[in-house]
Parts: sequence; C-alpha cells; structure tokens
Amino acid sequence: MATQKTILSGMRPTGKLHLGHLVGALENWVALQEQYQNFHLIADYHALTTNIDSSDIYQNSIDMLIDWLAVGIDPVKSPMFRQSQIKEHTELHLIFSMLITQARLERNPAVKDQVRDLNIESVTYGHIGYPVLQAADILLYKGDFVPVGEDQVPHVEITREIARKFNAQYGAVFPEPEPKLTKFARLPGLDGADKKMSKSAGNTILLSDSPEDIQKKMKGAVTDPQKIRRNDPGRPEICLVYTYHLKFNTTEAPEIESGCRSGALGCVDCKRRCATRIIETLAPIGEKRAFYETRPNEVTAILADGETKARARAEETMKEVRNVMKLG
Ligand code: TRP
Repeated sequence: MATQKTILSGMRPTGKLHLGHLVGALENWVALQEQYQNFHLIADYHALTTNIDSSDIYQNSIDMLIDWLAVGIDPVKSPMFRQSQIKEHTELHLIFSMLITQARLERNPAVKDQVRDLNIESVTYGHIGYPVLQAADILLYKGDFVPVGEDQVPHVEITREIARKFNAQYGAVFPEPEPKLTKFARLPGLDGADKKMSKSAGNTILLSDSPEDIQKKMKGAVTDPQKIRRNDPGRPEICLVYTYHLKFNTTEAPEIESGCRSGALGCVDCKRRCATRIIETLAPIGEKRAFYETRPNEVTAILADGETKARARAEETMKEVRNVMKLG
C-alpha cells in the first residue's frame, strides 16, 4: 500500500457534466482508481477566479459529485472533496505564492487564453495566481500524477517548478508531479467538428439528458455542409457525428464511414443510430444518478467522508511543511 502512487484530479464545479467530461476525463479517472490512490477535488475556489457569484456553487458541486458517483467513482477508494473545506489549501497557496514570480505567472499561456476567450478586461490577483492554488491542490496530497487535458499542462509545469523550489529551499517534502494526458481529450460539441464540447458554448449532451433530449440534440448536430441530400457523398473525417460513432459505436463505425462516403447512408439515419448508442452508454449512468438523486443524505455523507479523509492527508503534509520551514 505504501508504494501506491497518488493521483490528484480536479474539476471546477460547473454543475451537471456532459459527454466531453466523460470521454475527456471521467472514464480515465474510473480506470485509474484500480491502480492508484485517487483524490478528486471539487475546485470551488477556482470557480471564483472567473465568476465571483457564488450563489450556485454548492448546488453545482453536488450536481457534479452525483455525476462522478454515477460514472463509477468509488467513494470508498477515492475521496471526493471540496477545496474550500480543507483550509490547508489556502495556507499552502500563500506559502507557494512566495516561490514564483509575477512575471512567470503572466507568461502562463493557459491564463492568457482564458482571459482572451472570456473577454476579461482586467485580471484579478486571484485569477493570475490560480495555478499557484492548483499547485497547492496537487502537492498537499503529494500527487505523483495529474490527469489533465493539453490545456492544463502548463499548470502542472508550474506545480513542478514550485515543488522543486520548495524542496531546494526548505527540504525534500514534495514529489514533482507529472501530467497524465487523456487519449480522447477533445470531444467536439454539437455545433461543429472543430469546436470543443463545453457548457459555455451551449453545444453539449449532458450525462443527465433524457433519451428524448439526446435524439433531439443529435438531430440538430452540424454535419458535412457538402452533404445536403441523402445520397450526396459525405466526408466522415470532418463530421462530428462520425467522431461520436468512433467513440460510442466502434463496431458499426466502419460501415457508417463507407455508407457516408458512398451516399448510401443519410445524415438522419446516421444521427439516429449514433443517438441510440449514446443513450445506451448513458443508461447505466442515469440509473446510478437516479439512485443518488433520491438519496441526498447519502450524497452529503459521501462528501463529508471524503473531506475527512482529504483533510487528514492535507494536515499531515502541512505539518511537514511547517516543520521543514521552522514555522511554529
Ligand atoms: N484548473 C482546473 C480547471 O480549470 C481545475 C483544477 C483545480 C485542477 N485544481 C486542480 C485540475 C488540480 C487538476 C488538479 O479546470
């Protein structure tokens, strides 16, 4: 047990999760829990960096937690907890903020992209520093690996730099965590093969969508603009629906591909078949979701238990930190 490596993964509480989360992160988290000690962080403080309105933060956290449970994260093995409930995150964040320069944070491409995408006029101190908070999230649990998408790799790099700096200055407390990239990291949204599925783009299929919702949403999915009539030959490689077939309908995908190219298969049928497979994939998740939705006390008990376990580990690390720093 002592040799088992640790994984720290985190997500902002944006509420109900979608297929992009399932494919890009959650499937991977579930697979990794067999092999590693996993900690799953609900990054509620991070959510404040781009939205100071916290009125939905609790409900969004619970909705996200229910989706995590529904996809099969095992609460006994893998603690799930809110960042805001473990005060050690803020303590370590403060210490780490002395170990990185302002210039380094301003160079961070991930924050630059976010500022541009969200049209933020001037960046707050907390927003520019959020990778430092993320470093505290990861290192408090001595995470060896961090499962992330490409866009978060710069943050893991900053985490490594901070760990190195701390260890050299005060003593070897922290590992240098490595990113664990997800294979299928980018699932396109319903509005085009080059757009990522995301809540803000409004192009999602939610894990909690009903079969009717899914059929309806799929009907509206953007396909190859050159395939107008049923018999027109299509180009599956530029069609998001085909990407979904590759992911959710592997056995039929070759036949879908040739049917689309030859014109034998029309978009209406193709989409209906794709929706059917997605509905099948989500059915067991929906059942588990319904189980937890009707047992809110069980959900809050799972969260409380996760927070107790996470806190124990965080306190242990902070003790070491204070010790090597001669604080207290
Ligand atoms: N920064 C991540 C995001 O914006 C969320 C996050 C916070 C995170 N802390 C983390 C991810 C620790 C991995 C590890 O989505």
